[in-house]
Amino acid sequence: MALGRIIYRVLVLAATVFFVDSVANDANEDGNSHTSASVRNYGYLSLFNVSAEAARDAVRQLHRDFGIVDFQFYDAFYTYSQPVHPTKDSWISKPSGCFTKQPRVVHAATIKAYTDEIRKLPSGRGRSWMYVQSVAADESFSHHSKFLPYSNRDGTQVSWNGLDGNRCLYTYLLSRSWADHMVDLWAPAAVSLGFDGILQAPLAPLEASWMPARAFSELRWDPCVASRCHVKPFGAMLDFFVSAIRSGGRWVHWDQLGRVSDDAEQNALMARGIRDFLHAARQRLSSKFGLAQTFNFVDGFGWHESLYSGGRGSGTVEFPYWECWSDATEWIFWSLFNFSQEASDRSHARGHAVFARYPGPGCCGNPDSSPLDDLMWERWMRAASGCTSYLVLGDGDRHLVNEYFPSGKAMTDFERAAMTMAAREAGQIASRQCAHVSRAPHSSSSGLQLV
Ligand SMILES: *[C@@H]1O[C@H](CO)[C@@H](O)[C@H](O)[C@H]1NC(C)=O
Ligand SMILES: *[C@@H]1O[C@H](CO)[C@@H](O)[C@H](O)[C@H]1NC(C)=O
Repeated sequence: MALGRIIYRVLVLAATVFFVDSVANDANEDGNSHTSASVRNYGYLSLFNVSAEAARDAVRQLHRDFGIVDFQFYDAFYTYSQPVHPTKDSWISKPSGCFTKQPRVVHAATIKAYTDEIRKLPSGRGRSWMYVQSVAADESFSHHSKFLPYSNRDGTQVSWNGLDGNRCLYTYLLSRSWADHMVDLWAPAAVSLGFDGILQAPLAPLEASWMPARAFSELRWDPCVASRCHVKPFGAMLDFFVSAIRSGGRWVHWDQLGRVSDDAEQNALMARGIRDFLHAARQRLSSKFGLAQTFNFVDGFGWHESLYSGGRGSGTVEFPYWECWSDATEWIFWSLFNFSQEASDRSHARGHAVFARYPGPGCCGNPDSSPLDDLMWERWMRAASGCTSYLVLGDGDRHLVNEYFPSGKAMTDFERAAMTMAAREAGQIASRQCAHVSRAPHSSSSGLQLV
């Protein structure tokens, strides 16, 4: 064990024993905790069957203790083609009904309590992002014949069955016209629920037989050679089929599959589809709904620097969001997105990015030798050193384990103390070397004003 790690453990243990209360209370109630001064930390919410009071508490806790201002609403939607239930004010989120044995109940009132509390955060910088499946629909190609489906080798559309054998979703290629369709479908609900945008959510962990390798071997495209290109596990792969809508009002997050082929032409086609989709969606979201968007660049696939303005006004995506599944792509992320004033002589010094790599053992190419709490802490601090944010905390005081957010775990006292300390230290780093971040759009009178 490295010396730094030992020292950190001793410090955190001491904090756990002696200072937990003072650490938690140090960030003052008006929210000007040092953790939130500069970096827009990013967390998640996945519990939608809790009381309004519990929802508000969770938001305040994440903001106060960890400086979180961007909140991803994980799988809150009703079905892949219906953001909310047409008549009822609560529903079972379709992915949970299809792919897990634990159906998740979603109450519209709970979503609204979250989005309302996020808007009220004392810093005025809070934003709600609703996750939407960008490539998925309930209906098959026969209902959507003007769009291009993802096809199997035999020409049939790529689709997924649920555990009960019934068809759950069909998939479509990202394109300009699909963007228009998806925006018109999802953005009105996002606005009415008070979201600030759309965000991606991962799906249930499934047995090995559901792993994407199998699905992709049936695609018309040649599947990747396993050792050369990573394909997300099934849950995360659905993200690819998912566009994330940031519900709550102004932002949308879209998700994707990542690179699924070794064929240059196929990859170029898919990357092109992502760009076309994002340009068209951005245009429509902003002109018709006043929303912005983010997109999950899985292992960087589909990323192009022209999509982001580096904090100078509005870009096609609000900020880069990469979900990394290996050391290799993690380090590409850090080399591209270090917004520290020392590191960045570019005009990117006001930029911001979100890094996701789930810390559970067995996930994401994580080293066997590193315990989960070390990975959380190390990645949080690494993100801070580059003025970016690490997605791992949410639901009040829980942390992610893998790409299915509801399977996150409550933090232990040790973990809570470690992460509270990390957030404080990160806040100090940020105040020294990160450019100040402006307030969220809904708190200003002059329309969109991006970080
Ligand atoms: C909410 O859902 C979770 C997961 O299904 C369940 O464990 C919990 O009991 C539910 N809580 C309420 C208040 O219904
Ligand atoms: C970002 O750059 C700063 C300044 O050079 C450096 O100290 C820090 O370690 C870098 N962070 C990452 C994650 O690369």
